[in-house]
Amino acid sequence: MRIRTFDEYQAAYQKSVEDPEEFWAEIAQNFHWRKPWTKTLQWNFTEPNVKWFIGGKLNITENCLDRHLAEQGDQPAIIWEPNDPAEAGVTLTYKMLFDQVCRFANVLKRNGVQKGDRVCIYMPMVPELAIAVLACARIGAIHSVVFGGFSAQSIADRINDAQCKVVVTADGAYRGNKEIPLKSTVDDALIGCPSVEKVIVLTRTRTPVSMLKGRDVWWEQELKQVTAECPAEEMDAEDMLFILYTSGSTGKPKGVVHTCGGYMVYAAYTFQNVFQYEAGQTHFCTADIGWITGHSYIVYGPLACGATSIIFEGVPTYPDAGRFWDIVDKYKVDILYTAPTAIRSLMGFGLEKVENHDLSSLQVLGSVGEPINEEAWHWYDEHIGKGRCPIVDTWWQTETGGILISPLAGITKTKPTYATLPLPGVQPILVDENGKEIEGNGVSGNLCMKFPWPGILRTTYGDHERCRQTYFATYPGLYFTGDGCLRDEDGYYRITGRVDDVLNVSGHRIGTAEVENAINMHTGVVESAVVGYPHDIKGQGIYAYVITDQEPNGHDADLTKRDILATVSRVIGPIAKPDKIQFVTGLPKTRSGKIMRRILRKIAEGDTSNLGDTTTLLDPAVVEEIKAGAL
Ligand code: WTA
Repeated sequence: MRIRTFDEYQAAYQKSVEDPEEFWAEIAQNFHWRKPWTKTLQWNFTEPNVKWFIGGKLNITENCLDRHLAEQGDQPAIIWEPNDPAEAGVTLTYKMLFDQVCRFANVLKRNGVQKGDRVCIYMPMVPELAIAVLACARIGAIHSVVFGGFSAQSIADRINDAQCKVVVTADGAYRGNKEIPLKSTVDDALIGCPSVEKVIVLTRTRTPVSMLKGRDVWWEQELKQVTAECPAEEMDAEDMLFILYTSGSTGKPKGVVHTCGGYMVYAAYTFQNVFQYEAGQTHFCTADIGWITGHSYIVYGPLACGATSIIFEGVPTYPDAGRFWDIVDKYKVDILYTAPTAIRSLMGFGLEKVENHDLSSLQVLGSVGEPINEEAWHWYDEHIGKGRCPIVDTWWQTETGGILISPLAGITKTKPTYATLPLPGVQPILVDENGKEIEGNGVSGNLCMKFPWPGILRTTYGDHERCRQTYFATYPGLYFTGDGCLRDEDGYYRITGRVDDVLNVSGHRIGTAEVENAINMHTGVVESAVVGYPHDIKGQGIYAYVITDQEPNGHDADLTKRDILATVSRVIGPIAKPDKIQFVTGLPKTRSGKIMRRILRKIAEGDTSNLGDTTTLLDPAVVEEIKAGAL
């Protein structure tokens, strides 16, 4: 399953298109299956209905843990670096991780979790988060990890959508110099979550917590009640492995569903090939396990390949902006995988924080989550990679399970800001607004996929129609990514950003509709419209135009803005807080009542010279007012 040269890449690519089933069947044979599959692929993109490795039986944890025990049981599987560098870290060998996963799996069982049940995990970046994830997979429970920065309301929405039976959380979390009370947020969420029967609470910060009799139990106490024997549940390749909620252009976040067999094969295959992982290497992915990047490239991909994966609890700037580089040197990191927003923010602290580090262990640098600008690419290349580490700009999505377009480290010739070429098995196509294919090179259009790969989402939890509508209905017969894309003269792909109403703020996906709904919940707000604008560090900032029943002025306006931010934090979480709020008396609407976001986007970008045709607006005068008050 390993590609080592560009010729091999081309051969693999060709084979994957000519005979996808045979191609993926050969790769899947590298894993441990309890029972082989009888048919490799069955699919259509109309219902949609995609199934890989049909009839195959497996457990992903046997692939991530058990099968490594004999030969590399004493090799570190997880290295945990705490928020505070003065606190001792934790290294878990494969044997230790296996033991802990089995024990916690028994804790879940003891608390009533059965195969197919949904478990919500809301935790800090501690080893127990990975343990909880794997323990669910061990017994066939479906995990739904919720990023620790989301609000009680967001947790409640996700728990209710998936009807989770158990929540796994911690008393609190450390992030930089902040202490975040996770359990009390869970308590607030659970007021409206009748499906939850048990809450398992890990001790991390020793923040005082309320423990409800009959519902809440301590992780540590529970562990004392169980043995380390936990045979893995036999799962069908197409049984659900996890749900991960992600924002779209409309409505509430959707629960993207991934299944056991295809996801495993795809996460591991892409990990090995994109990063050119070699046995014994240490991989440091700086994402949170609450996002897909953490699922695929901290937990499942690296562990399936027997790698050593670092879990970092803190933030890149604590105690200072040299923290990533401290970690790289401390653990002799081979592969560093981070987001452009982190690179841009660290660039701002100057080179002193970099230059006092060795960084010579680094072999490969990765980028993910948003387009990487040329300046950040070169800084990463020169100052971190010292011009000797290939950069892999990896494009993918929660829905794709793993990387789809990316260089293979050291194999594909890179070009700054380009994700370059599709991985084997990935068949991109650019289409125009009408869904007509845009052929040839030196063109741009909307990025779609015309053939399934094993890691593609199978459905959105509890609402298959929404999955069809969102991804498969815009352009019949194609999976639509929501991204705009350019294919240059060399056939290299460059992702230019979302073409729908989804923002990418610091690499986090946020739907404009979600933010609007949150703002509209604030007292006195009549209506709002949210757009993105270019932001030096975050990539995109959030710009909100807000109509209130009484237009606030001066000091009053500042207070109202602050209160609106508090409401957004409470409804979604701090990551969704607008960077700018402009009070307006009206919004540019067409006669049919549709907000002309194009105009609002231009004004937010500070480009008011050419707003295009405004004659179809209900009230063209409102545009002048908005322009005059732009921030
Ligand atoms: C964007 C994160 C440009 C893109 C793995 C996509 C990127 C969305 C890149 C998915 C990249 C991700 N270059 N844009 N290398 N990687 N994106 O679901 O807009 O959190 O649709 O998955 O991030 O975000 P998600």
